[in-house]
Amino acid sequence: MLSLPDFEAAARRVLPRPIFGYVAGAAEDNRAHDDNRRAFDELAFVPRVLCNVAHRQQQVSLFGTTYASPFGIAPMGIAALSAYRGDIVLARAAAQAQIPAVLSGSSLIALETVMAEAPGTWFQAYLPGTNERIDALLRRVAAAGVQTLVITVDIPVAGNRENNLRAGFSTPLRPGVRLAWDGLTRPRWLLGTLLQTLARHGMPHFENSFADRGAPILSSRVQRDFAERDHFDWTHIARIRRQWKGALVIKGILSPLDAAQAHRHGVDGIIVSNHGGRQLDSAVAPLRVLPAIVERAGDMTVMLDGGIRRGADVLKAMALGARAVFVGRPFNYAAAVDGEAGVAVAIDLLRAEIDRNLAMLGLTSLDDLGPQYLFNHRAPHPLHHPHGDHP
Ligand code: GLV
Repeated sequence: MLSLPDFEAAARRVLPRPIFGYVAGAAEDNRAHDDNRRAFDELAFVPRVLCNVAHRQQQVSLFGTTYASPFGIAPMGIAALSAYRGDIVLARAAAQAQIPAVLSGSSLIALETVMAEAPGTWFQAYLPGTNERIDALLRRVAAAGVQTLVITVDIPVAGNRENNLRAGFSTPLRPGVRLAWDGLTRPRWLLGTLLQTLARHGMPHFENSFADRGAPILSSRVQRDFAERDHFDWTHIARIRRQWKGALVIKGILSPLDAAQAHRHGVDGIIVSNHGGRQLDSAVAPLRVLPAIVERAGDMTVMLDGGIRRGADVLKAMALGARAVFVGRPFNYAAAVDGEAGVAVAIDLLRAEIDRNLAMLGLTSLDDLGPQYLFNHRAPHPLHHPHGDHP
């Protein structure tokens, strides 16, 4: 494994088709998904030389905690189907490496268990349908010791994921000959992940959707549990802000107008995101709107996810104003391929790429990154300031 994309090819061989399809897939024609990558590819670096870069560091501070690198693990649903105890694997590897990890609200291991294994893990909630149930979930999250709460807001309804259906994935999973065949053709996964989970922990349930246990993954109740989210508006955020004492992060913002709204509501941070292209297809790539969002974000911590596969991508996002970024699928694949050790390797690879590129950019610290280090092939003028200030 020499780079993050290597884990994808390896995971394809390890994971049953529907599970790999769920992770890899996006909405409709993959336009949002594919443009997330393209937006990074359109930017080139303008490095400086002879800057004495002998003492480099890549620490960042987020909500009062110092992390060793400026990237974290994005929340990913049902990660415990990709790897045995996947949510714990991701959270522990991140804690070990001193980077943030966000536990998904659509996860299959109880929040309390994950927090005990990796204190400091962030929690991403999908809001339940009623204020009473939201309040109860917030009480549970606080009692579990979560300090940073991420609320995902780009899912008023489920995205149209034809790709998942074509790959044989659905929630609930539909038992049948095809699913059995998909499992039997991946014996390592069948024994090491599925049977091990069933034997030691029983049928996986959605543990963290509500204050109480949600539906099992094989139940038709799953659909109903996730069906009532289209009535949310900013009054819900205002209510949550009044109750939640920890850091509050909104994930799924793409419009500068919504960034301004979040700021007005006392939100501490936002994750500029199109959900990895999994919700609204043709939603703009986060990187493209990042500069305009940073302008409207006031003192909020602006973060980004979507399409980051290299240290170079991390640095491009940070040059445009992101304080940190999140990476999803590659860490899920790394967990599938080699558990916690695999995730540790992936983190180290990305960290080494950032360090190497910082040196070649002529930088010792992320604080000095800015748009003067970027050249945009498609629109050179706004980003290219050849005579701009330089440290
Ligand atoms: C869950 O959030 C997903 O995108 O599948």
